[in-house]
Amino acid sequence: MRYDFDRIIDRSNNFAAKYDELELRFGRGDLLPLWVADMDFKAAQPIVDAIRARAAQEIYGYTARPDTYFEAVVSWYKRRYDWEIQREWMSYSPTVVTAMSIIMREFTKPGDKIIIQTPVYYPFFSVVQDNGRELVCNPLKLVGEDYVMDYEDLECKIDDQVKYLILCNPHNPVGRVWTKEELTKLGNICMKNNIKVIADEIHGDLVLYGKKYTPFASISEEFAKYSITCISATKTFNLAGLQASTVIFPDTKDHDKFEKILNILDIKRNNCFSLVAMQAAYQEGEEWLKQLMEYVGENIRFVTDYCEDHIPQIKPNKPEGTYLLWLNCKELGLKDEDLHNLMVNEAKVALNGGTGFGPEGSGYMRMNVACSRRLLEEGLSRIKKAVSKI
Ligand SMILES: Cc1ncc(COP(=O)(O)O)c(C=O)c1O
Repeated sequence: MRYDFDRIIDRSNNFAAKYDELELRFGRGDLLPLWVADMDFKAAQPIVDAIRARAAQEIYGYTARPDTYFEAVVSWYKRRYDWEIQREWMSYSPTVVTAMSIIMREFTKPGDKIIIQTPVYYPFFSVVQDNGRELVCNPLKLVGEDYVMDYEDLECKIDDQVKYLILCNPHNPVGRVWTKEELTKLGNICMKNNIKVIADEIHGDLVLYGKKYTPFASISEEFAKYSITCISATKTFNLAGLQASTVIFPDTKDHDKFEKILNILDIKRNNCFSLVAMQAAYQEGEEWLKQLMEYVGENIRFVTDYCEDHIPQIKPNKPEGTYLLWLNCKELGLKDEDLHNLMVNEAKVALNGGTGFGPEGSGYMRMNVACSRRLLEEGLSRIKKAVSKI
């Protein structure tokens, strides 16, 4: 079937954070929301059908995951990325951030250091620091217009206290889809220093322009043993409100320890709708995803061309994955709070401020382009008008 991503969907009764938290987060509710990473698109029809059928059963008791739930994930990763995930490696978490937070609390101790590669998804800071662990930043390097990992800086920052590195693959917000070579170099440094990699690969399916996503753990058996991978169809298929993710522990001691904690916290079960939605997504969602990424790719081209023609002071990066655009706004010559003020109070557009992703984000904004092109055009024309008044 042909999906209509151009259609503008009214989310006013959708209880959507992206819309309903504008006042709370930006101080005013009349903004065009291009911030938090969910999409303004309807879900794939097979997912909607599966949820409708489950709702129609009219019994919503405790759930038990059938083998087909896990088989759907295994089959997706095997056929798309040639990664053979073993059933005994797989566990569950309501969200990826929940899993990372549990790992921090239960797999590390106070004083342990965790490396992140900034600018990066802001909860990476909080899962480390708010759980009382020490954060070490290994900033990405800008080489020309491309972000790359800084391996020399990484090696300099490693000491005996460093226990984990949190990898973002593909990388939010800069949109890099790390190559096998880049991941291999990173993995070798980590292994040599006995550092485990927590691979947040929630954006793995959202890859653009023929680029190839490589699951870190798929590179070798040794890398797998040194990894914990977090994945979920919630990001790929716009199901964040259903809250379900898969956590993969090729080291089965870690797996068993994690499952014990899920039991203690009593968060081991899917809700009844996520259970059927995840299966439907991985079994029947591929066509929707293909059409989605074509549309997102066109949206990125649209924003890039628009900025070039009308707002040349704003330079979007060229993402290889995700539906997030990292906008270099430095040529506007504004301090970060003035840039925020321009977008919110003049343009009336809600974007994520760059400094939320680390100090390297100064002068940048993140734009979510997973919405109809007409909304993007409206947002850009508001920004153009606001910029012309500086
Ligand atoms: C890199 C990354 N990890 C995790 C998440 C959130 O996942 P969850 O809602 O499962 O915690 C996001 C959401 O934007 C993300 O960009």
